[in-house]
Amino acid sequence: ADQPIVLGIETSCDETGIGIVRGHTLLADTIASSMEEHARFGGVVPEVASRAHLDAMIPTVESALAKAGLRVTDIDAIAVTAGPGLAGALLVGVAAAKAYALGLGVPLYGVNHLAAHVAVDQLEHGPLPKPCLAMLVSGGHSSLLLVPDVAKEVISLGSTVDDAAGEAFDKVARVLGLPFPGGPHIDRAARDGSGTAIAFPRGKADDGTLDFSFSGLKTAVARYVEKNGGSLSLPDVAASFQEAVVDVLTRKALAACAKHDVHDLLIGGGVAANSRLRALAQERCDAAGVRLRVPRPGLCTDNGAMVAALGANLLEAGVAPSQLTIPADSSLPI
Ligand code: KG4
Ligand code: ZN
Repeated sequence: ADQPIVLGIETSCDETGIGIVRGHTLLADTIASSMEEHARFGGVVPEVASRAHLDAMIPTVESALAKAGLRVTDIDAIAVTAGPGLAGALLVGVAAAKAYALGLGVPLYGVNHLAAHVAVDQLEHGPLPKPCLAMLVSGGHSSLLLVPDVAKEVISLGSTVDDAAGEAFDKVARVLGLPFPGGPHIDRAARDGSGTAIAFPRGKADDGTLDFSFSGLKTAVARYVEKNGGSLSLPDVAASFQEAVVDVLTRKALAACAKHDVHDLLIGGGVAANSRLRALAQERCDAAGVRLRVPRPGLCTDNGAMVAALGANLLEAGVAPSQLTIPADSSLPI
């Protein structure tokens, strides 16, 4: 009961996420999304996202507090995503976090969005093994991270050199005439198709690095659709594209585990909701003797709980709070 209560604020993209934890117990996780306003543009519009965060911030904090049965004065610390993400969107969260921290007289922690995606898993599966390997795959990032201690040291091993994995799903969905965001639609369509029907390229699969590339695959699918037009099987194209993505993702994740002698793999980010990625990762982890941790879909996509969870780790580790002058940094390195 003496564990500190941390309120986490996430505004790096289109989601205004407010999470509240007591230690590593989740008390509330409330999200307002402006995705509906972006869908007709086929992608997130930064200016629209920033304004939506501004409108949603205080009501979302209030509803998280109500859900947790707390008053704002019960909060012991504020954590906020300081980057990476959309500059204007981050600014809204960081400004709100400073105001709450100053008004309440509690410490402020500016955190890295990617590290928060890793930390969130503790809320569902308990303490993180030290070290663990994390693969974060979303619309904005595709990264492999070595995590000796999420509060103190997170090391980037590789990332995409072009499109993020979720971005590839969204772009291919567009080519196939599916709505934005396209990942879930491709996942669904693929269930009726064969992943081996069409041999799409596996970018950088065997180049010995831990980096990814998905733009060649996206182009190959677009070319295939152009060429085969009316006669193509949507389920086969979806399944074969999806197979190419998850084959490379899981291969590289397990190569990273082997290279660094790590036996725990965590997958996070919106693409971690993909059913084929979950299945193939489990299969390959079992074969390699690696334990797999994947948070439930609601914790994989952007949310405030992940920021609060990392804030709790920083408090626990005795890490010094951030200054109230901390900037929002759209390209904050890990
Ligand atoms: O983490 P997230 O909600 O937001 C960020 O991009 O940070 O991830 C959204 C991405 C989108 O690209 C979406 O198409 C993808 O995750 N996604 C999926 C699935 N569900 C969401 N991709 C493949 N299969 C899914 N089931
Ligand atoms: Zn994210």
